[in-house]
Amino acid sequence: SSEFTYDYIVVGGGTGGLVVANRLSEQETTSVLVIEAGGSVYNNINVTDTGGYGNAFGTTIDWAYQTTDQEYAAGKPQIVRAGKALGGTSTINGMVYLRAQTAQIDAWEAIGNKGWNWNSLFPYYRKGEDFQGIHYSWLEGSGVAYDPADHGYTGPLKVGWSSTQLNDGLAQQLNATYQNMVPPVPYNKDPNGGQMVGYALYPKTVDSIKNIREDAARAYYYPYQNRTNLHVWLNTNANRLTWKDGDAATADGVEVTLANGTTIVVKASREVIVAAGALKSPVLLELSGIGNPDILSKYGIQTKVNLSTVGENLQDQMNNGLVYDSMISYSKSADYVAYPSVNQLFTNASAIGAQLYAKLPAYAAQVASANGNITKASNIERFFKIQWHLIFKSHIPVAEILLEPSGNTYDTEYWGSVPFSRGNVHIQSADPTAAASIDPKYFMLDFDLHAQIEAARFIRKLFKTEPFAGMAGDETSPGLSAVAANAGDEGWASFIKNNYRSNFHPISTVAMMPKEVGGVVDTSLKVYGTSNVRVVDASVMPFQVCGHLQSTVYAVAERAADIIKVE
Ligand code: FDA
Repeated sequence: SSEFTYDYIVVGGGTGGLVVANRLSEQETTSVLVIEAGGSVYNNINVTDTGGYGNAFGTTIDWAYQTTDQEYAAGKPQIVRAGKALGGTSTINGMVYLRAQTAQIDAWEAIGNKGWNWNSLFPYYRKGEDFQGIHYSWLEGSGVAYDPADHGYTGPLKVGWSSTQLNDGLAQQLNATYQNMVPPVPYNKDPNGGQMVGYALYPKTVDSIKNIREDAARAYYYPYQNRTNLHVWLNTNANRLTWKDGDAATADGVEVTLANGTTIVVKASREVIVAAGALKSPVLLELSGIGNPDILSKYGIQTKVNLSTVGENLQDQMNNGLVYDSMISYSKSADYVAYPSVNQLFTNASAIGAQLYAKLPAYAAQVASANGNITKASNIERFFKIQWHLIFKSHIPVAEILLEPSGNTYDTEYWGSVPFSRGNVHIQSADPTAAASIDPKYFMLDFDLHAQIEAARFIRKLFKTEPFAGMAGDETSPGLSAVAANAGDEGWASFIKNNYRSNFHPISTVAMMPKEVGGVVDTSLKVYGTSNVRVVDASVMPFQVCGHLQSTVYAVAERAADIIKVE
């Protein structure tokens, strides 16, 4: 027995978790506890400063998860960052607010998640949003634009542009440049309506007036903290779920270690909602006895639910950059994105498509063999064909190109949007404080490298196209002496593999899919084999999205709350 009982316990007060906690606690008779390993960062300048991206890295609010040595990428480990604070990763992320292409969310339904498609998710993107518009004097001339129908105006999460937005004509010059590229990259007024291909200025999770970061806690918790039925325990680590006596896998609480070091059990009378992030939620399930019996037994954990695919299907993207001198000095910055489709990224898209299609069975076999056939090659091949179709037939963006002017430089970041490589995350100990084994298998499949190389070439082409070419100076990284102007794939491969980082977009480790094809949660986000354990965070997304993850995590969590409320 425990002195604490709540209707719902939410494990992880991050991006997804705080949405669910907020919405469930709208019902006054429902009690909700949020367990969060980190503390409050409400007044942390590394969080609130909209120009401070990166300042929180390596501080106490960064989990800084380390991967295994990446055998397909120079043999080195990577750091995958994630926020350890009330608000989770939304407190340290790049604040980019970009959703997905319609066909990508429709693909969730195509793999068997009935009812999960763009049309059913779109209202939830809008439900969470408090779009602040562009009617501020400081945005005059900045080039920002939007389609009113694509946004929500009554949700908790502020989205928009802040007073640091550059308005000196660069947006217009870039647009002219993209139109001059061969083939041209069309202007996209609003990439948040489900059509992402093109060049756009994207909004961020910022408070436009105060010019501070908007994160999950600032949006979904602090304005509601006086609710007596909503409690948050900070600096409290969830160790494992506890189970009701009997055969059914019904969770009845969570074992936690409090800030003072005491370990206690807090009871849940209805459900436990796991929202610890894609690199932690599967770990918590395993520590609780949900997973692959071969892994659990190694660490003396009794299997409660035999579900071998927990922790599999890990998908991330790889991030590289090119840096150029600029002829102009910038004291403000702005956010410009280009989303090329295959026809804009590859010179011979149909040939590349045909080659890739022929390789999919081998890719699927390689993924299955790498995880001991826990995920089946036949299922993976089907998913890969759907992914191929998205890229070559639905023409989703196949890469993302970001341009960031600052001081006397133009920084760029780029990544292939939908890598095929699949890795995994698993416990290496029964100790809940021990690090898990995280293996994204970056660059395992050669298309992923190919897309990364073509994205780099695309950037070089952009910087050679007028009028922007006249505003930019030399390429300082990698520079033509490191990667020659006419470098072949080999020349690019070594730069890319030695200099990439995680794009910090891990997903799919607790995938929403039918159980028979390797899923871990069903369409109500309930873990198979349990009666009352759900997962609501980036872990459940079955496929990578173009755009960035947070908007889709917020939308999925909004929908999850509605699903939970009617049960
Ligand atoms: P999230 O990490 O938000 O929440 C998990 C919570 O659980 C955390 O608060 C954590 O402390 C807590 N927790 C974990 N284990 C626990 C335990 N055992 N006990 C108690 N609590 C525990 N996306 C985007 O859309 N635009 C962007 O610009 C960027 N940029 C970006 C930059 C960086 C550096 C990173 C790391 C990530 C991004 N992203 C991003 C990605 C995006 O921010 C991210 O995918 C989502 O915020 C993830 O939300 P979740 O709810 O899945 O996990």
